[in-house]
Amino acid sequence: MRLDVISIFPDYLAPLDLSLIGKARRDGLVDLRVHDLRDFAHDRHRTVDDTPYGGGAGMVMSAQPWSEALTDVLGTADAPGERPVLIVPGPGGQPFDQAMARELSGRGWLAFACGRYEGIDERVYEWAAERMEVRVVSLGDYVLNGGEVAAMAMIEAVVRLLPGVVGNAESLVEESHEGGLLEYPLYTKPAEWDGRPVPEVLLSGDHARIERWRHQQRLERTAARRPDLLPRSGALGVDGLA
Ligand code: ADE
Repeated sequence: MRLDVISIFPDYLAPLDLSLIGKARRDGLVDLRVHDLRDFAHDRHRTVDDTPYGGGAGMVMSAQPWSEALTDVLGTADAPGERPVLIVPGPGGQPFDQAMARELSGRGWLAFACGRYEGIDERVYEWAAERMEVRVVSLGDYVLNGGEVAAMAMIEAVVRLLPGVVGNAESLVEESHEGGLLEYPLYTKPAEWDGRPVPEVLLSGDHARIERWRHQQRLERTAARRPDLLPRSGALGVDGLA
């Protein structure tokens, strides 16, 4: 998978060299290219923003550096005519979730446009949409200072779904949000710690019973913490919890 990230803070993306994502890069599973938006500004101060038309607080990112940066990225397509999906992280976007992560993990090329300040000139979205698929995507209902942390979160969620990135593919199946439910509680040795025993069923060796217990735990956890997920999970029978 190819990933391009455009930002005025390319160093923000440095942690993507670490851990499983860093290994995926070194193994050649991910081709991650980070671009400094200021390389596409042409004045002495490498300016990428200006005051908003119509007034208001803060600054707006100018169209010109963005169009040049995106043109540069498009110009390095690995095959003629290939285009990335352009993701613009922003609190006004479509909510990011596991289903979107899974869908994006099947696309060969993603580009992330990380905005700062109050946002990017609206004409950049129009210009980009004439050249590639554009999606504004939000991590959640809160405001970050810019798109970089959101892009990193999305990249981690997407890349770990690529074949060969997470060693044990089974661990992807049982985790939270797969199957629409939260994950069951986990325990490791010792069997008793701080006077607290591990639930007896987990020591029973009865795999069918363990499966049933874990499923019940997933339902109870989801009902307690994220009841909004239950209707979509298929866990609700006609009388409530199945
Ligand atoms: N940029 C600023 N806030 C954001 C959010 N909630 N999600 C994605 N990108 C953002």
